[in-house]
Amino acid sequence: MSISYQEQERIFVLQTPHTTYAMQLAASGHLRHLYWGKKLEQALPDGLYVPRNRSFSPWMADDPESMSLLDSASFEYPVFGCGDFRIPALELRLANGTSASDLRYREHRIQSGKPGLPGLPATYVEDEAEAETLTVVLIDAVAGLEVELAYTAFRDHDAIARSVRVRNVSDAALRLEKIASAAVDLERADFDLIQLSGAWARERHLMRTPLRSGLQSLSSCRGASGHMQHPFVALADRRTGEESGEVYGMSLVYSGNFAAEIEVDQEDNTRVAMGINPFDFEWLLEPGEVFQAPETVMVFSDAGLGDMSRTYHRLYRERLCRGRYRDSDRYILINNWEATYFDFNEALITSLAHEAKELGVELFVLDDGWFGKRDGDNSSLGDWYPDPKKLPHGITGLAEKITAQGMKFGLWFEPEMVSPDSDLYRAHPDWCIHVPARSRSLGRNQLILDYSRRDVCDAIVAMLSEILGTAPISYVKWDMNRHMTEPGSAQLPPERQREVGHRYILGLYEVMETLTSRFPDILFESCSGGGGRFDPGMLYYMPQTWTSDNSDAISRLKIQYGTSMVYPASAMGAHVSAVPNHQHGRVTSLETRGHCAMSGNFGYELDVRKMTAEEKAMVREQIRRYKEIRHTVLFGDLYRLKSPFESNEAAWNYVSRDRKEVVVMAFYILAEADAKERRLRLGGLDPVRKYRVAATGEEYYGEFLMNYGLTLPAWTQGDFKSTFWHLLAVE
Ligand code: DGJ
Repeated sequence: MSISYQEQERIFVLQTPHTTYAMQLAASGHLRHLYWGKKLEQALPDGLYVPRNRSFSPWMADDPESMSLLDSASFEYPVFGCGDFRIPALELRLANGTSASDLRYREHRIQSGKPGLPGLPATYVEDEAEAETLTVVLIDAVAGLEVELAYTAFRDHDAIARSVRVRNVSDAALRLEKIASAAVDLERADFDLIQLSGAWARERHLMRTPLRSGLQSLSSCRGASGHMQHPFVALADRRTGEESGEVYGMSLVYSGNFAAEIEVDQEDNTRVAMGINPFDFEWLLEPGEVFQAPETVMVFSDAGLGDMSRTYHRLYRERLCRGRYRDSDRYILINNWEATYFDFNEALITSLAHEAKELGVELFVLDDGWFGKRDGDNSSLGDWYPDPKKLPHGITGLAEKITAQGMKFGLWFEPEMVSPDSDLYRAHPDWCIHVPARSRSLGRNQLILDYSRRDVCDAIVAMLSEILGTAPISYVKWDMNRHMTEPGSAQLPPERQREVGHRYILGLYEVMETLTSRFPDILFESCSGGGGRFDPGMLYYMPQTWTSDNSDAISRLKIQYGTSMVYPASAMGAHVSAVPNHQHGRVTSLETRGHCAMSGNFGYELDVRKMTAEEKAMVREQIRRYKEIRHTVLFGDLYRLKSPFESNEAAWNYVSRDRKEVVVMAFYILAEADAKERRLRLGGLDPVRKYRVAATGEEYYGEFLMNYGLTLPAWTQGDFKSTFWHLLAVE
C-alpha cells in the first residue's frame, strides 16, 4: 500500500495490494480522475489528457487546456454550472441565490493511518501502518467553500475509502443541497449495473441490467436505508462472472436516506455518485461551520464478483465491525417471536429456554411484548419497563432464572419508536417526528421518536441503561419497524427542517455509540422489520443484523445470496423456523432449514417444546455440527458456486483462512423426474492439499475438488432438498 504524488506530472497515485487509483491536477487546478483498476506498478506518464474541441461543450475562459471537455471530462468531485452538465457530486445555493460552482486545488496532505469521521461510522485501522490517507483540499473561491476529499488506501485490503468534508470559509451562510460522498468517472459504459433491491421479506435480491444512456438511480427517502433499495452498486464488465472479470463496487457506510446515481453521457463515459439522498435534503452552513459526509468504500476486482465480495467481507468484518464480539464465534440463539408472538408469561419463557438449553442452544432472546401493556403491536413502545402481568419478577428475575440454567439471556427493544398509546407519548407528544398541524401517519401503529433532539436521545439512553445495567443481559436485538413520514422536528427552525433526516441518523449513531460503549459485553444485533436497515453504518455499532423476517429456507437462499455480495456470514442472522412457514406457508424439511440457517449466524425461532423426539434429535445434531463449523462459516472465505437467481440450485462453500477446513452447502429447489447426478466444483481450496470428507472418510485433492468436483445426490423425489459436506485437510 502507498500513496504518492508524482510532482512533475501532478499525479496522485494510491496503491492497494492489487489495485491502483490515480488522479491528476490540471494546470487550471481542476482535479481529474485518471484511473481506477488493476494495479499499475510503474509511474504513470503525463499527457494522458488531450484537449479537444467539441460542439456544444463549453470551456473555461481562464483554462484553454480544458477545451472543450468539461462536459465529458473525468472529474474527481464534479460540480454543476461551469461546464459539466452531468450529475454533480455537490450542489450549493449561495447567499445571492445562484448555484453554479467551480472547485480548484488548494493543497493536499498525505498521512499514515486513517482519521475517524466525527459522529459517523467508518472503516478504521488499529495501527497507523495499516493505511495511508490522502486529503486533497479544493476550494470554490466565489462561494467561499472549502472541500476536503479524503482517500484511504489499505495495506491489507483492496479497497479505497472515500469521504468528504466541507467548510464554509465565507462570511455568509451557504446552503448545501447535495453532497455525495464519492463520485467516479469511468471512461466506458459497456457495464452491467448490479444492485440489491427488494421489499419487506424479500430483501437484497440480486439484479443485473445493462447500463443505458442517461441517468439511472437507486435511492431511499424513507429515513432508513430500507428493504427496497440498498446503498450498494457495482458496475461489472458484461462478461464478469463469480470468479473472473472486472467489477467496480461502491458501498455507502450510512443508514439513512441515500442515493446512488449512475449516468452514461453522450461520449459513453459513466459517472457514479453516491451519498446522502439530495431529495428533501438541505443543510444550512453558517460561516465557519463544517459538514462531514459519510464514507463510501470502493472495491475494484479483476477476479469477479466473488473476489469483490470477499474483499468487502474481510474489510467489514475486521475493520468496520467493532467490539468484543468482532472476532469471536457468536452464540447459537433461540428467539421466542415466532413461537409465542405477544402471548407469553414467565413460566412459558422459562420452559422454552429450558428445552432449548437441553438441545444445546446457548442464548435465549426474549422478543417483543415484555414491556408496558403490550399484548399486540398497538401500544407501549417507549415504556421500557417490564409488564408485571407477564413477568412478575421483572426482566431481572427472568434473566436470572435463565442464566441460572447455564444459558445467556438477550432482550428485544425498539428504542427509536413511540406508540401513541404509551405513557411516554402522553407525557411528550412533541417528541416524535412530525409537522405541526399535519396528521401524524402511523406505521404499525407507531410514530418515530425525534432522535435529532438531544433531550429525546438522552431519555432513551437513560431508560435502556436502567435495564441493561441491572439485569444479566448478554445480547440486545435493536429493532425498527416503520419508515419516516411528515419529516419535521419541533426543535429545528424553519430553515433547518430539511436537515431532519440526517440529524435523525446522527442522533441514532450517537445513542448507539453511547450504549454499545457503555455495555461492551453485550452483543448487539440490529434489525428493521428483518433486513430493512442491513447496512454498513449499522455494522459499525452492531456486528450482526437480522437478515429478513422471511425465515423460509427457500426464500432465504436468494436473500442470503444477495446479501453476501457485500456482507460476511458473521453479519447475517439466520434462524430455523417452524413449518408451514409463517410468512408464506411453505413446508421444507428440518434438514434444509438447518443447512440454510447454518450458512449464517445460526439460531432457532420456533417452539422447541412442540417438536417430536426425532426432530429434537436432529436439532441436537445440527447444533453439534454448527459448533464444529461455525468459525469457518463466520470467519472463512465465501465462494458462491451456484446462484438461485440463475438456476434451480444454490450452493456455496466456506474456506478457513488457513485453507485446512471447508464447509459446503448445496440446495436443489424443485425436484425433476429422472434428474441426473450433477457435480459441484468448489472454490478457494489449496490445490495440492488432500481433504477428507468428515462424514465418509473419502479423500480428494483440492485441485480435484475445484475442477472435477463433488458429486451431488440425484434429487428426484420431493422439492427443497439440500446437502452438506465438511472437509478437513489431511495432515
Ligand atoms: C420485526 C422483527 O424483524 C421481528 O423479528 C420481531 O422482532 C418483530 N419485529 C417484533 O415486533
